[in-house]
Amino acid sequence: MVSCIEENKNMVFYPRAELASQLADALLGKSVFSDAHNGLFLAAPRRTGKTTFLQADLKPNLEHRGVVVVYLDLWADQRRDPGDLIAEAIGRALQPPLGLIARTARKAGLDKVSLAGWLNIDTSKIGKLDGATLPDALRALIEAAQSPVALIVDEAQHALTSEAGETAMAALKSARDQLNRPGDVKLMLIMSGSDRDKLLRLVNTGGAPFYGSQIQRMPELDAGFIAHIAGLVEKQRLDLVPVDQKLLHEAFQKFGCRPQFFMDALGRSLSPLSAISGRFEPAVLQAGQAQQQADEAQMESDYLSLNPLEQAIVWRLLEQGSRFRPYDAEALRFYHDKTPKKANAQQAQSALESLRQRTPALVWKSARGEYAVDDAAMHRWYERRVQAGTWPPQALQHELR
Ligand SMILES: Nc1ncnc2c1ncn2[C@@H]1O[C@H](COP(=O)(O)OP(=O)(O)OP(=O)(O)O)[C@@H](O)[C@H]1O
Ligand SMILES: [Mg+2]
Repeated sequence: MVSCIEENKNMVFYPRAELASQLADALLGKSVFSDAHNGLFLAAPRRTGKTTFLQADLKPNLEHRGVVVVYLDLWADQRRDPGDLIAEAIGRALQPPLGLIARTARKAGLDKVSLAGWLNIDTSKIGKLDGATLPDALRALIEAAQSPVALIVDEAQHALTSEAGETAMAALKSARDQLNRPGDVKLMLIMSGSDRDKLLRLVNTGGAPFYGSQIQRMPELDAGFIAHIAGLVEKQRLDLVPVDQKLLHEAFQKFGCRPQFFMDALGRSLSPLSAISGRFEPAVLQAGQAQQQADEAQMESDYLSLNPLEQAIVWRLLEQGSRFRPYDAEALRFYHDKTPKKANAQQAQSALESLRQRTPALVWKSARGEYAVDDAAMHRWYERRVQAGTWPPQALQHELR
């Protein structure tokens, strides 16, 4: 059973066809009360299935409707500039439809082809996008493929960490405005990210590229996923019928709705080598609880390893979220209250910098100087502790001092 689950990923894959279909309708402007035709911004925590959903559910659904889908992950190569990555992905998508036109043109001795009478493309440079702006390239793709185009940008918040990335985002926004008309959507933009706070920077201020759009939380894998997994277990282990789906779902939530960790614990609990004699579900739940505790212990120890000013800054970031301003009077007063020494803006700045430079980084900064905690899971940890009255974490006082 375990090896079967591990070996055959397709078998474990739980398709989310309904969600894909709803989102595709919204993107194509078919849902009256949705703004998705202006851009769909999806946030969900790390490892909860964003990329899988975009690639294995949404992409095929859109393709099935005749849409050309360009997918790119801005995290795939962090050394590359996000602006270049976007341009390259569009260039790659342009190749197949334009290749044919270009070959015909080259055979006829032409070094430029004219597309739909308005865009001249250098046949030797197709795919490199030399000189062609992003809106022009997207328009060329739509014309050449004779179909609408959806651009899926995974981990889109990464675009905000460089000026070229920001420019690319602004160009995409302008392309959307040029190409789409009410009831006639030619360019769909889907941006996903693991951190709502960071994605917000794309939409929440007057100067943000997609000002006015909303960030939506991508739903977590639900009871349907658990039923799917339970079905697989029951098929192979008749002795375990019926599987307690409620308990498994509870365990899945303890794992932060992250399938990978959940499946791993499931596999271990079902293994003939495990020492479990009774039902396997409570063991999975227990593993979930242990994982949650381990995650939180790690965050606590990271926090406690910071100096007082750094701790105060992280605290302020967690408390303020996207309202965080690092050096305003209130922030400085806050740092002052929480630390033994009075901190000035310069000290706060170098503390912020050292929080960014740590490995792994604790703080994220956009090209425009906006900050967020790097790991959005810290917000949940913070809120849980505030609710439980255990914030801030205290270092254990050693008797021998
Ligand atoms: N629908 C699904 N059915 C089964 N397993 C899934 C499904 N979606 C995701 N997973 C599993 O969960 C893990 C994480 O998925 P994925 O990489 O899509 O998440 P992500 O949110 O994009 O992660 P990251 O934050 O690292 O980019 C993978 O091991 C994947 O196989
Ligand atoms: Mg991903």
